[in-house]
Amino acid sequence: MIQTSAPAKLILCGEHAVVYNRPAIALPLGNVRAYAEAQPGAPGAGLRFVAPDLGADWGFADDPQNPLNELAAAALAYLNAPVPDLTVTLRSDIPIAGGMGSGAAIGAALVRALAAHAGRELPTAEISAMVYASEGRYHGTPSGIDNTVIAYEQAIWFHRRPPAPPLITPVAIGAPLTLVVGDTGVRSTTRLPVGAVRERWQADPVVYEGLFDAVSDLVAQARDALASGDRTALGGILDDNQRLLAQIGVSSPDLEQLIGAARAAGALGAKLSGAGWGGVMIALAPPNGHSQIADALRAAGASRVRVATVPANDHIVG
Ligand code: MEV
Repeated sequence: MIQTSAPAKLILCGEHAVVYNRPAIALPLGNVRAYAEAQPGAPGAGLRFVAPDLGADWGFADDPQNPLNELAAAALAYLNAPVPDLTVTLRSDIPIAGGMGSGAAIGAALVRALAAHAGRELPTAEISAMVYASEGRYHGTPSGIDNTVIAYEQAIWFHRRPPAPPLITPVAIGAPLTLVVGDTGVRSTTRLPVGAVRERWQADPVVYEGLFDAVSDLVAQARDALASGDRTALGGILDDNQRLLAQIGVSSPDLEQLIGAARAAGALGAKLSGAGWGGVMIALAPPNGHSQIADALRAAGASRVRVATVPANDHIVG
């Protein structure tokens, strides 16, 4: 049996503006993962998928439009492999439509399982590219940050610069961080807020370009604060980013409720993370302050609270 996996992700800062060619910083969440388990099937059974969490079970040949079938077809074409007799069971600890990259993580785990079954290890850039193409079919204009941080599984600075490939740089983290992740329990597909922002940007490009530039400045400041391990500065930057996200129109009363509760419980800063209108928020905890914030988030109605630790690293930012 083959088992592969991929992590959840959190956008630390810069979501939405990243679609408009501004930089953003994303972190993998190694202990929250999606898994693919591949087991050989009977000869002639073909490729089948089982998703027990969704109560779903389908065949590769049943529905060529199914996004996971399309992704599997792309992976098999790249591998130059025939359709295998294989049952792939997909499981995930990552909430669906929760801002943590569940679709991209399931996709990356699936591509890795098909490659492993074919006796191959695919280059990370290739896995990322396949998942990007698949994400594009769901939500139209993905920046590529989700598939990248999930495939590479490291903290990244991501900057789209079409027609050149995106600039992807490891991010230096000078001191460990503790993030408390509160889930509103409201499921929101990325496509909807991303589409709404596009309409507003088209209607008022000057205002929206200005907001995206302001986000871009904060992301640059966040990189410096991360590198120097300045949690207080980083907290202020997260708060400023949240104010801009609210102006961009992707916050929600549920998110604001959790963000306010986290700040009142001592968070150094807090913001929504991902596409918004639901999904998760993150709060930067002071040393030893995460339990108080977690309790406050639960009391404020979070459907789930996770504590994520981000280790310091010795990456040199290029
Ligand atoms: C979603 O995780 C982040 C967004 O910026 C969309 C994207 O980058 O594709 C909202």
